[in-house]
Amino acid sequence: MVPIFTEVCRVEEVPPGTGRLVMGPFDKPMALFNVAGNFFAINAICPHMGGPLQSGKVVGKVIYCPWHQWSFCVDTGEADHPGGHRISAYQVKVQEGAVLVGWLKQ
Ligand code: FES
Repeated sequence: MVPIFTEVCRVEEVPPGTGRLVMGPFDKPMALFNVAGNFFAINAICPHMGGPLQSGKVVGKVIYCPWHQWSFCVDTGEADHPGGHRISAYQVKVQEGAVLVGWLKQ
C-alpha cells in the first residue's frame, strides 16, 4: 500500500509532553503525542470503553487513558504490561514545521 500522509497540525501546536486529537488519513481519529520533540500517533479511542487517549497523562512513551488508566506505548501501541490490549500505531513525520500522519506502522 502506498503510504498516504495527511498534514494535521504545526509542531508548535503540540508542546512536549502533551497530546492532541487529529484526523488522519481516511478520517481516522488519532491521538498525536509529542514526547521530548518526537511525534507519535496511535488510535485515539481506548479499547476498554472508548476513552479519549489524547487527553491522558503521558509518562515517557506511555500514555495512560484518562478514564480507567489502561496504558499503552505511544510508539508501538503495545500495552506496557504483559497480557494487555494493544492498539494501532501510525506513521508520523515532520516536514517544514508541519506534522503529518500516515497509516499503520509495519
Ligand atoms: S476507557 Fe480507557 S481505560 Fe477505560
